[in-house]
Amino acid sequence: MGAGKTTIGADVARRLDRPFWDVDFAIENHVDASVGEIFDQRGEAAFRAVEERLTLEALRSRVPSVVALGGGGLGSAAVREELARTALAVHVEVDVDEAWRRSARTDRPLARDEAAFRELYEERQPAYAAAADARARDADNIVLAAGGVHVGLGSLELLAELVPGDGAAALVADARVAGIHGAAAQLALGTRLASTHELPVGEDAKTVTTAGRLWQELTLDRNGTLVALGGGCTTDAAGFVAATYLRGVEWTTVPTTLVGQVDAAIGGKTGINLTHGKNLVGAFHWPGRVVVDPALLETLPEHERQEGMAEVVKTGLLAGEPLWELPVAELVRRCAAFKTAVCLRDPLDRGPRAILNLGHTFAHALEAAAGFELSHGRAVALGLLAALRLSGAATGAVEDVLRPQRVRVDREQAWQALQRDKKAVDGRVRLVLLPAPGDPVYGVEVPAADVRRELDALIAD
Ligand SMILES: NC(=O)c1ccc[n+]([C@@H]2O[C@H](COP(=O)([O-])OP(=O)(O)OC[C@H]3O[C@@H](n4cnc5c(N)ncnc54)[C@H](O)[C@@H]3O)[C@@H](O)[C@H]2O)c1
Repeated sequence: MGAGKTTIGADVARRLDRPFWDVDFAIENHVDASVGEIFDQRGEAAFRAVEERLTLEALRSRVPSVVALGGGGLGSAAVREELARTALAVHVEVDVDEAWRRSARTDRPLARDEAAFRELYEERQPAYAAAADARARDADNIVLAAGGVHVGLGSLELLAELVPGDGAAALVADARVAGIHGAAAQLALGTRLASTHELPVGEDAKTVTTAGRLWQELTLDRNGTLVALGGGCTTDAAGFVAATYLRGVEWTTVPTTLVGQVDAAIGGKTGINLTHGKNLVGAFHWPGRVVVDPALLETLPEHERQEGMAEVVKTGLLAGEPLWELPVAELVRRCAAFKTAVCLRDPLDRGPRAILNLGHTFAHALEAAAGFELSHGRAVALGLLAALRLSGAATGAVEDVLRPQRVRVDREQAWQALQRDKKAVDGRVRLVLLPAPGDPVYGVEVPAADVRRELDALIAD
C-alpha cells in the first residue's frame, strides 16, 4: 500500500507498450464500489475472493501485460504460484513512513489506523521478499529488471551471482580491458570461471577471423555462459559468437565503455563486420543479464567518454529530459532504462526501435565519406544537429554538450553514402525526426533537397 504501484505500473506499461491491469481498480469496476465500500459492506474475505479471481485472470492473460497487484494479493497461494510460473515479479519498495504518509486519509480500509498499518507493513514483507524476482523504487528500475539489466556501482564484484544459471563461464575481453578489469572479473566469477579469451582491440574484434578463433577456443557445453567484458566491439563480437556457438549459448554482457553501458550492450543486437560494411553479419540474441557497473568507467579515456556522450545526448533528446546533466551513475541508469524499454517494445527492430537512429543517417554518411577516419561520436553529434534542424527543434543541448565541429569530407561522396544508407525512394529520404523533445517520429519522408542542404551544412569547406 502506498508504494506507487498504480502510477509506476501505468508508466511501465506505457513505456513497454503493454496493457496495464490495476487489480484494485479492476475490482472496483467489477463490483461497482470502492475498495473501502466492499470491505465495509461485504467484509475482507469477500474482497479477497474477488481479488484472487481478477488477479489470476490478469496473470493468465494471453497478452503480455503489466499488472499492479493489490497489496494483500500475495495472501493467496494460487496467486503466488501463478506469479512464480508466469511473471517477472517486482517488489516496488517504499519505506513505512512514506507508505503511511501516502495512504493515510485515503479510502483504503487497511490504512485507517497507523499502528495497524505499520504492523501489516512488517507482516507482509517476507511474502513480498519471497515472491520478488527484483526490487524497484521507480519505473526505470522495473524496465531494467524486465530486460535483465542490473545497474549498480560495484556490481562487477557480484558477477558470479548475477550471471544467470549455474553453468561454467567463459570470459571474453579485448586485450586492453583484460589488462585493466580482467583480473577483477575473473576473481568475481570465482569457481564459475572456465576459460578466458582475448579479442583484438576495437573493430578488429568484429571480424570473421576473430569469431572463428573464438568458436574454436570455446569449450562450453550448452549449459555454459559466455561473459563479454568490454566496449561495444567486444560485446558485438562475443554476442555473435554466443548466438551461434552450439546453435546458441546464454551470454552476459559487462559493458566497460559509456557507449556500451547506455547503448551497445543492451537490446540483443550482435554482429561482426564484412570488408564492405559494418554489422553486415549478426543475430538478435538478448543477453540473459547485462551487468552495468558505472565504476568501470573511471578508467575510460576522455575521448571514449565523449563518444558515449553523443549517445547520452541522443537518449536525453528522445526521452525529453536533460539526462546528460545527471551524475554519471544516474545518467547511465536512466539511459540504460530508456534503451531497454525501446528494445523490449521492439526486440527485432521492426518498428519503433528505429527512433534510436536519431541523427545516425547523417552520421553514417559522414563516416563513410571520411573513410571511417571520423569518430562515431563526432559524427553522431553532427547528425543530431541536422536531424534537429530538420525537425525545427532547438539545437542548444547538442551544441553545448557535444560541441560538434564541421568535418572536411567530399560533399558528393557523403550525399551518395546517405542515399545508400536509407535507400531513398523517389528522391525522398526517410528519417527519424524530433518535432518536440521526448516525441520522436520515425520513417518520416523528407524532401531530398532539404536533407542535402542539412548534410552540406555539416561539412566544412
Ligand atoms: N549492438 C548494438 O546495439 C550497438 C549499439 C551501439 C554501438 N555498437 C557497436 O559498438 C562499437 C563501439 O563500441 P565502443 O565505443 O564501446 O568501442 P570499443 O569496444 O572499441 O571500446 C573503445 C576503447 O576503449 C577501451 N576500453 C573499454 N573499456 C575501457 C575501460 N573501462 N577503461 C579503459 N579503456 C577501456 C577499449 O579497449 C577500446 O580501445 C561499434 O562497433 C558499434 O557498431 C553496437
